[in-house]
Parts: sequence; C-alpha cells; structure tokens
Amino acid sequence: MADQSIHGMWSSRLMFVLAAAGSAVGLGNIWRFPYVAGENGGGAFVLVYLGCIALIGFPIVMAEIVLGREGRKSPINTMADLAKRSRRSTIWQAVGWMGAGTGFIILSVYSVIAGWVMAYVIRMASGDLAGADSGSAGAAFDGFTQDAGSVLGWHTLFMILTMFIVARGVGRGIEFAVKYLMPALFFLLLMLVGYSVVTTGPAFGEGLAFMFSFKFDQLTWAAVLLAMGQAFFTLSLGMGTMMTYGAYMPAGASIPGTAAMVAILDTTVAILAGIIIFPLVFANDLTGSTGPGLMFVTLPIAFGQMTGGQVFGTAFFVLVSFAAITSSISMIEPACAWLVEKTGFRRPMVAVILGVIAWVLGLGSALSFNLWSDVQLLGGLNFFESMDYLANNIMLPLGGMLIALFTGWMVDKSIVRQQMAVSEGGLLFFLWIVRVVAPAAVFVVFVMTLLG
Ligand code: TRP
Repeated sequence: MADQSIHGMWSSRLMFVLAAAGSAVGLGNIWRFPYVAGENGGGAFVLVYLGCIALIGFPIVMAEIVLGREGRKSPINTMADLAKRSRRSTIWQAVGWMGAGTGFIILSVYSVIAGWVMAYVIRMASGDLAGADSGSAGAAFDGFTQDAGSVLGWHTLFMILTMFIVARGVGRGIEFAVKYLMPALFFLLLMLVGYSVVTTGPAFGEGLAFMFSFKFDQLTWAAVLLAMGQAFFTLSLGMGTMMTYGAYMPAGASIPGTAAMVAILDTTVAILAGIIIFPLVFANDLTGSTGPGLMFVTLPIAFGQMTGGQVFGTAFFVLVSFAAITSSISMIEPACAWLVEKTGFRRPMVAVILGVIAWVLGLGSALSFNLWSDVQLLGGLNFFESMDYLANNIMLPLGGMLIALFTGWMVDKSIVRQQMAVSEGGLLFFLWIVRVVAPAAVFVVFVMTLLG
C-alpha cells in the first residue's frame, strides 16, 4: 500500500473527519432532508432514512474508505488497480466512471441551490425580509427563483468559488475552512433549535410528532426509495467522494471509528435541521410539503421575527453557503484527481474544465424554476427534478451497491482485513454486510419500486 497520494494528504485523522464531515454535511441535511421528509409524510420516512444510514450507508462509507486508502488514487484508477491486484476484471473501473458522471449531475444541481443560499445572504443582510410572514416569505422566494437572470448569476458565482477551492488543492484552504466553519455552523443550528423551542409553543410538539411518529400506512416503496436515496446523498456516498477523501487519509487512523464520527455528525445535523424547520412550519400555518422552497420560506420567517434576526439570519445563510462549498468541492474532486493522474495537467486547469462542464449542465436546473418550467424530461418531471431523481434515487444507490459488492467479493480479503484493522469477528460481520445485506437491501428497494 502506498502511504501517500500525489494529490496531497490530510494532516491528521481529525482533519480527515472534518473534511469528510464537511463533504457530508451540506444542503442535503439542511435544505433537502426537511423538504423530502415533509413531502413524504414525515415520521415513517425519517425512520427508514435512519435505518438506511445505519444498515447501508455506514458500512458503505467504510467500504469506500477501505478502497480509497488502499488505492491512494482517483476512484477510476483505484478500482482498476485493486481489481488487477486481486486478479479480477478491470471492468470494475466502470464504477469509477459512473461515479464521475454522477458527480457532474449532482454538482450541477447543487450549485444552483447553493446560489439561492448565497442570494439569501444578501437578502437577509439588506433587511428585505425583516418581519416576513408566511405570505411575504413565500412570495419573496417565488419572485427570486422566477428571475432567471439572478438565479444564473448566483449559480455562476458559486461554481467559480468551487473551482477556485478545488484548484487550490487538498491541504491549502479546505482544511483551514472546515476547522472553523463546522463548529460555527453547529453553534448556530443549536441556537435556532433554542429559538424554535421557545417561540413555536404547541407547534413544537406538532413538529416533533410529524418527524418522529411512525405512520406506516403512509409508507410506499417509492418513499422508501427516496429515503434510501437521501441516505446516500447525505453521506456523500455511491460515487467515489468518500473513496477519494479516503485516499488522502493518514495510514494509522481507524476506518470504523472515523466513519462512525462522520455518520453521526451528519445525521445529527439533519435531525437538528428538521427540529428547527417543522415546528416553524406548523407555527406559521405553512405546509411541510412545499418542496425545494421549504427552508427558504420557513427560516426567513423565524429570523424576521426574532431580535437580532437580521444578523443571525445573515450569519446562518453564510454558514450554509460554506457548508455547501465544503460539499460541492467533494463532488468534482474524484474526477479532478483522475484527470490530473491521466494527463498530468495542472490542477487549476483541470478544475476549471470540470467546473465549466458542471456549470453548463446546471443551466437546465437553474431555468427549471422559470423559463423552462414547462419542459419535461423523465416521466413528467422538469429538468431539475429529473437530475435530482436520476442521481439520488438511481445512480448513487446503484454505485453504492456495486462498491459494496466489489469490496466484499472482489478485493482480496487480506487487503480489507489490513485496512479495517478490526477483530476477525468484526471483519466477518463487515464482510457479511457489504457482501449480502447492503446490496440486497438496495436491490429489493429498486425492484419493489419498479413493481409499484
Ligand atoms: N452530502 C452532501 C450534502 O448532504 C452532498 C454531497 C457532497 C454529495 N459530495 C457528494 C452527495 C457526493 C453525493 C455524492 O449536502
């Protein structure tokens, strides 16, 4: 096993955890989780989501890191190398290719939404949204997303920032940023939870009940697929992000230990976001099934009514922007590492090439809320919804399933044993999950969704 990657290394085990948590914690937790849970009835969805995290997500996080740290390269080359060393077909590197493609799709959508977040920094700071109620906050959101020009402008700006950080590389910048921003984000989230508890009155209980009461009659296979897709998305799983970050991880760090920390941090942030947003929904007579606008409508209401709301609101959207950036960079890092390995081009040039591709793809999502709102792709979904569905509900679970199967059945057991560094019993348990349980779970959900 190589003990360095040519792309750089995290300076410690803690830095790996922060970078991986920086990737995992993002719009998926604060923006996507509450609205998808809201659209799917709450409680039962949340339970399935938590089950998927524990049973499928967490083991596959470990699998990705095992492969990454062993290969120390981009997913495409790591999969090819490990297949060769284990005397298996190099066709497995196709999983790396698929992941790189998925990364473009996800980044293209992500950049548009992160652009909204940055726009909301300015709106909060300007006092535009002061005293907002459910009506005016909703109208402000619709007015903003219908303005194609500004949505495109913010999308462009976010993509430039992403390219800039990826261009600077692993060590300089990412580490420094996550070290301060992640704790600050956590602090503000807790503050908002406090606000929600104190001000929403009986609606607080309603919000919690919505999130945690398990109404199984509302659970369809389609909703189970969405919960599973969300579990993959929120853990940055199934396309090689964790594999790539694992490639930069110091040799001595424990994979189960660090993976557990990442999964726990990520899940905590999602649950906190739900605890903030749903009580606000009920307290303000909104509905949880508002879709992608949920966070942009509920939070301005809270900030608009609290003392110091302008300052806290601005700070909050700033931090969500940072959470988004520490995630977006991890979506093209796999492709970036591959292109650097392949061509020897300098990283800044590679970052720009890849960013431009994702930017172009993002135009479709940016326009889905205005000029192209009538354009339909997959089964009546608009462009944004189609990309989101394809990536989260199909590509990521499929990629994750293949990564689990590869780790469990293809890679020499001695490699997995050495990387995991757990007891023999622990190793067998892990192998049982990645060989059988996780792939079978994904398979069953796919098939049942198809059957309806
Ligand atoms: N996990 C991030 C979030 O929740 C998004 C993300 C970053 C991602 N890298 C990824 C999702 C790779 C899927 C694959 O916002």
